[in-house]
Amino acid sequence: MPPFFPSFAVILPAAGSGSRVGGNVPKQYLPLLGKPVLWHSIRAFSQMEECVEVVVAVNPEWQAVAEECGAGIERMTYVAGGTERQHSIANGLLGLRTTPEIILVHDAARPCVSRRLITQVVQSAAAHGAAIPALPIAETVKRVDANGAIVATIPRHELRTAQTPQGFRRQLLLSAYAHATLHNILGTDDSSLVELLGHPVQIVEGELANLKITYPDDVRKAEAILVERKPHP
Ligand code: C5P
Repeated sequence: MPPFFPSFAVILPAAGSGSRVGGNVPKQYLPLLGKPVLWHSIRAFSQMEECVEVVVAVNPEWQAVAEECGAGIERMTYVAGGTERQHSIANGLLGLRTTPEIILVHDAARPCVSRRLITQVVQSAAAHGAAIPALPIAETVKRVDANGAIVATIPRHELRTAQTPQGFRRQLLLSAYAHATLHNILGTDDSSLVELLGHPVQIVEGELANLKITYPDDVRKAEAILVERKPHP
């Protein structure tokens, strides 16, 4: 019997306006192998048959471009973005039209997420309630004061950098967002809101290739990763 694989929906926050990459185009719409970054992020999930809905949070002025990115894909939902990433995702949760077992949240600006990583996060979230990909840290990390003087050296074996997709049982994520809204809490990722409920979050091994488009060189790096991954004829 094949291993149990639950149905999932994914929320893609794509309403950020910033681009350290340059120009006026937000990073999720920069061209990557001839298509916007968001186009690639949508397809990473929609190609999996267990994916029952893709919800994209967008700014109104980019709505038409976002809809083009999802053209031809069934079960696309578009919602308005919010002022902060967390607000965009809250709108996504409200806009869900399906009731899957698992909800994933994935930065639209991470177009190279692999099927392997999505599968591992979904399965771990189904088993543990909450799961996120994370990577060990290569550099030594310092805490500094306002003047730039070092206050402490943090033992790096205790640290991980968090990636997306972050996966949760639907009811757990809804509870975490309700709790955050009630107490006016703004987290930098979804896991942190679940952690505040006191619920454990499982780590799965992240991927270096799952980079978030942030710096000018990242588009070129992402293109190299996607070209390398394409099945050779
Ligand atoms: O700026 P940062 O890299 O943290 O953004 C991560 C993701 O969250 C991006 O895909 C961005 O478009 C999205 N975002 C959003 N709404 C905001 C801010 C960011 O959907 N208000």
